[in-house]
Amino acid sequence: MKGRKILVTGGLGFIGSHTAVELIAQGFEVVLADNLSNTTEAPLEGIEAITGQRPVFEKVDLSIGAEVQGLFDRHPNFDGVIHFAAHKAVGESVREPIKYYLNNLGSLGLLLEQCRTRSIVHFIFSSSCTVYGEATRLPIDESAPVQPAMSPYGNTKQVGEEMLRDAVRAYSGLQVIALRYFNPIGAHPSAHIGELPLGSPLNLVPYVTQTAAGVREQLQVFGNDYDTPDGTNVRDYIHVVDIAKAHVVALNRLMQHQNTDAYEVFNLGTGRGSSVLEVIRSFEKVSGKALNYRIVERRPGDVTAAYADTRKANEVLGWKAELSLDQAMEDAWRWEKKVRNLND
Ligand code: UD1
Repeated sequence: MKGRKILVTGGLGFIGSHTAVELIAQGFEVVLADNLSNTTEAPLEGIEAITGQRPVFEKVDLSIGAEVQGLFDRHPNFDGVIHFAAHKAVGESVREPIKYYLNNLGSLGLLLEQCRTRSIVHFIFSSSCTVYGEATRLPIDESAPVQPAMSPYGNTKQVGEEMLRDAVRAYSGLQVIALRYFNPIGAHPSAHIGELPLGSPLNLVPYVTQTAAGVREQLQVFGNDYDTPDGTNVRDYIHVVDIAKAHVVALNRLMQHQNTDAYEVFNLGTGRGSSVLEVIRSFEKVSGKALNYRIVERRPGDVTAAYADTRKANEVLGWKAELSLDQAMEDAWRWEKKVRNLND
């Protein structure tokens, strides 16, 4: 929508930067807010290379009230907020829970206060399939019960959803869509933006590509004795560009008053489960490289299998993931090679 101004928090992060690209492509004006705690300003160049436009960037700590106030004072006319900014390392959240609650929930509360006082009514929230825990039924649909969180990080997503539900009940006009991501992977096919974890990656796909690039010695596969076809965990890996597009669809749904509830939840997945070994095979196929890996003990806290029932997102939201696991692995590898200056 032309001329609509959207605040994208965490806008220089992995999913935020890809969403900025899709918003700009649809004619939205974006302001990207980020505290640079887990990224650099480099994605601004990447976004400009893809879209021809350099978005406005605001370095802001969204957990500090005065900084949030300043941001909205400088931009008093946002038409919507897409809120990605959050800490997301599960293990760190166990060691430093209060850091997670202050940052993830503090920032959400401060943003909602600004929305209330300034009558900003369109709000999209990054949630996670982690809220389902070890689901009793697969694929997982949105009516599956939210399980007790297994980490403070997971709890911030659950409580975040509850805060939004309460805010929608109390503040007239506020319209929210929470998107529960399964496992976002890949990179923009242009290789101008992608995932760049600081330090050693915790997630599977960046660990795979860094191992192949020679940055890590060997991938450890956490367990092959699960009750799955090949014994390794099953997840629903979804291309980050598909995830990004879903945010634009969700925002348009709110702006065009197509939502049926003031608070809606959608799963973002492909509906297809892939095992860790299938991910490795896909990588080896698209890269033509053999991956150095070995099977080790299970990682505490991992669920056996999780993949999405995507019918609600397909039929109600009107969005469907279009890119395959192979395409995601190909794009992730193209990005890794660019970051590492590799040619082959
Ligand atoms: C994890 C979080 C999830 C969070 C998401 C965000 C846990 C339990 N879950 O999802 O809450 O929303 O990240 O990024 O931490 N694997 C290996 N070797 C590795 C890394 C991973 O075998 O070096 C396996 C894991 O055991 C798992 C699969 O790969 O089966 C995917 O792992 P990962 O990418 O970390 O995602 P999740 O654990 O599904």
